[in-house]
Amino acid sequence: MEIPPRVRWMQDIFGEYQRYFTFLKKVARHEFRTNGFTRITTPILELKSLITHSTGDGSDIVTKEMFDFTDKGGREVVMKPESTPGVMRAYLEHMLEEPQPVYLYYIEPHFRYDRPQKGRYRQFHQIGAEIIGEVDPILDAKAIYIMAQILDGLGLAGTYTVKINSLGVAKEREKYLIELASFFENKKHLLDETDLARLEKNPLRLLDSKNADVKELLKVAPKMTDFLKKDSLEFYTKVKEYLDILGVKYEEDHTLVRGLDYYSHTVWELVDGSGRTQDALGGGGRYDGLAKSIGYKTEVPAVGFAFGAERLIEAMIERGVQLKNKDKIHLYIMQLGDEAKKLALPLNIEARKKWLNSLLGLGTPSIKVQLKKANRVGARFVIVIGIMEAKKWICQLKDMDRGTQIEMPLDNVLDAVIAEVGTDALSFYHPSRDFIISDVPMSEEKMRRVSMD
Ligand code: HAM
Repeated sequence: MEIPPRVRWMQDIFGEYQRYFTFLKKVARHEFRTNGFTRITTPILELKSLITHSTGDGSDIVTKEMFDFTDKGGREVVMKPESTPGVMRAYLEHMLEEPQPVYLYYIEPHFRYDRPQKGRYRQFHQIGAEIIGEVDPILDAKAIYIMAQILDGLGLAGTYTVKINSLGVAKEREKYLIELASFFENKKHLLDETDLARLEKNPLRLLDSKNADVKELLKVAPKMTDFLKKDSLEFYTKVKEYLDILGVKYEEDHTLVRGLDYYSHTVWELVDGSGRTQDALGGGGRYDGLAKSIGYKTEVPAVGFAFGAERLIEAMIERGVQLKNKDKIHLYIMQLGDEAKKLALPLNIEARKKWLNSLLGLGTPSIKVQLKKANRVGARFVIVIGIMEAKKWICQLKDMDRGTQIEMPLDNVLDAVIAEVGTDALSFYHPSRDFIISDVPMSEEKMRRVSMD
């Protein structure tokens, strides 16, 4: 029988790549935590109607890219292509009574049945945030600022551009769309099939066109910002003022519309400057109308963003950002025989208590085989305990980098290793510092967020 292959275009994440992933999560979590955000995880599956009513019937995601199916209960479900609709749904169910706005972040897998290419995968991860429940242009500016902070924290300062635009409110967009469509009406001969369909269905999507003629025409086409009325203009101006105060440099891009239907007012993208089609490291915007579009009685002010984790990692690798390897094996403990094993096992545990990363030789392989393995796992030091050593409570300590070997009492050997690898290389963590054991049970009220029904 053949081993079943991986599902096409899905990826396993391990080794060095996983280390980048962990680092991303750490940087993002730190940034979110210090800005008052808490983490949310919404289900992988959402009802299809939630996505069609929010991300939008006309969006590429809904028309082409959904991993959707009917479950055994006959429900039409989707493996979430993005988290914004699910987070809003969860907010409306659980968080209306919380102090507003609520600041939520997520680090989640998402699924889009897309044509794969560099930077575009069928399962990918987003690091995202949503601020829901209060309207203030400060929040738009802060969301962009936080994105920039995360990129700088990943070693990407100076490699990206912040692009912003305003899409105003629905009424203003309607007017603009009529003007835009009439501008292109007598230029149809210059449009390809895709752009003709866009003109027909949603002319706003023409601003995403990759066609050189259309791009040229867009330079003289009507601009969304010319259709903004006083309130929308004021909002947009304030966002820009706050960005200036926060020291975030940005470019205004009148063609930036984003591919999701729920945006109003501010939209933005952080692009990597590579000129590739998939150059957006992340994007976001305001979506005050989403709650109503999924059935809530009123609009709910909200703003948010998401980064593509894989794209961030690729950008870091291109930039030459190399991570210090905290998983490096400091010590390989080699044993030769039963008596040696009885000493090697406690030494392995003791090494862990001293925050060294160690591996224990298993079974009964020869010294040569164990040495080879120690080399393969990249151990800096090898402790050898044979029958003679076990009797005398000593060991041989091999420094694999220097190619030296010395005899040592077992009691001193771990401190000798620590002195060489340095305490900076060790990761100190006491889980017990993060909890207390209390007699008072957790209240239903606090736990209700885990809704199981
Ligand atoms: P989005 O622009 O569709 O926005 O996705 C955000 C980011 O996810 C993109 O900029 C890109 O880096 C990454 N991404 C998207 N599709 C793929 C893919 N197939 N493979 C790899 N990476 C991908 C949203 O999803 C919105 N929910 C963002 C948001 C949150 N707006 C308001 N709140």
